Amino acid sequence: MIYLDANATTPLLPEVLDAMLPWLREGFHNPNASYRGAKEARKAIDEARAQVAALIGATPDEIVFTGGGTESTNTALKWLARLVGRKTGKVVTSAIEHSAVLKPVETFGEVGYPVTLAGVDGGGRLKLDEYQAACEAAKEGGGLASVMWANNETGVIQPVEEAGAIAKENGLAFHTDAIQAVGKIAVNVRAAPVDFLSLSAHKFHGPKGVGALYIRGGARFEPLLRGGGQEKDRRSGTENTAGIVGLGKAAELAMARLAAGETPRALRNAFEAKVVELVQGATVNGDLLHRLPGTSHLSFTGCEAAGLLILLDDAGVACSAGSACMTGKQQPSHVQKAMGFPDAKAKSSLRFGFSCLNTMEEAMEAAAAVAKAVEKLRKVQGGSTGPVVVYSA
Ligand SMILES: Cc1ncc(COP(=O)(O)O)c(C=O)c1O
Repeated sequence: MIYLDANATTPLLPEVLDAMLPWLREGFHNPNASYRGAKEARKAIDEARAQVAALIGATPDEIVFTGGGTESTNTALKWLARLVGRKTGKVVTSAIEHSAVLKPVETFGEVGYPVTLAGVDGGGRLKLDEYQAACEAAKEGGGLASVMWANNETGVIQPVEEAGAIAKENGLAFHTDAIQAVGKIAVNVRAAPVDFLSLSAHKFHGPKGVGALYIRGGARFEPLLRGGGQEKDRRSGTENTAGIVGLGKAAELAMARLAAGETPRALRNAFEAKVVELVQGATVNGDLLHRLPGTSHLSFTGCEAAGLLILLDDAGVACSAGSACMTGKQQPSHVQKAMGFPDAKAKSSLRFGFSCLNTMEEAMEAAAAVAKAVEKLRKVQGGSTGPVVVYSA
């Protein structure tokens, strides 16, 4: 199997598993207890905190461990909404956010917060003028803004520094969902005016079900989960020591890869070039100047993505149509809609996600498999794309 769905999740690196295993075996102690084993677990958690902080340019006390990306975004957004107050608060975000942001934001809308979704251009980048107007409109009464660092479907990197600065100019708190960006490109919370940042281990070769929320030092905050007061009362619940150690190790390894300039960019570019060479009517989507190095979003005229996915699966290539969370829903992706893609294009698009574990041989083999699948499907479909199919992390 050639695994090209790194935006959905990534395989655990062997070094990460090795770092985790002792904490699932003999290192099982509750880190909040007072004996030696517990103290060792506490020390391991604090080391992981420093590793995660280093990856994003934060200080360790600004990192709160969570049960994954979705918990991080919900924690930040729900607190920010409470902070600004129901009577006057407004919420500004983008139309292309992940459901881990859009769904909580929807619930604010239901209870009376005016919500504005700023649009994106045809390349999938935030329209800063629309976003700025929305932030200015939210200035009176206060509010919050949330803009993702990079999009999960297209890989397009958003102008987060500008978006954060505009939020701050208008007195709004600013959160960024950096779940697709952290570990893949340089993300530094000191370089952007970010109050809250969400990240998730499994997107950069760490374990699933563990993430972190960066909370800028001095920012007001109240927890989503209350209980035993762990994480300095910012996220209660006995710590997932093994998961947290895995996140820390994955962060350390990602930092080393970034420092060494190791990215899957060359693989992704070679794959795209080959596909475009072999397949007539293949287009590369998204702002080419602002893309994650491992993401490729392609459309194939006259070819239904659902059919392609089946043929590629048969050929041993794992990829997605849109985002993994939406696979199985009979609707085109909200991201492609926001980019103005006609339905026919939206339903003929696939997402390929490369990681540091892929090889050039795999990239070339996958490109050939794509070309074969398109050819086969075009013959069967005779160039017509049926009803709108679906979308999926
Ligand atoms: C941009 C983005 N935000 C949020 C999430 C949710 O993260 P998690 O799977 O860790 O809950 C994902 C994962 O698909 C994502 O890609």
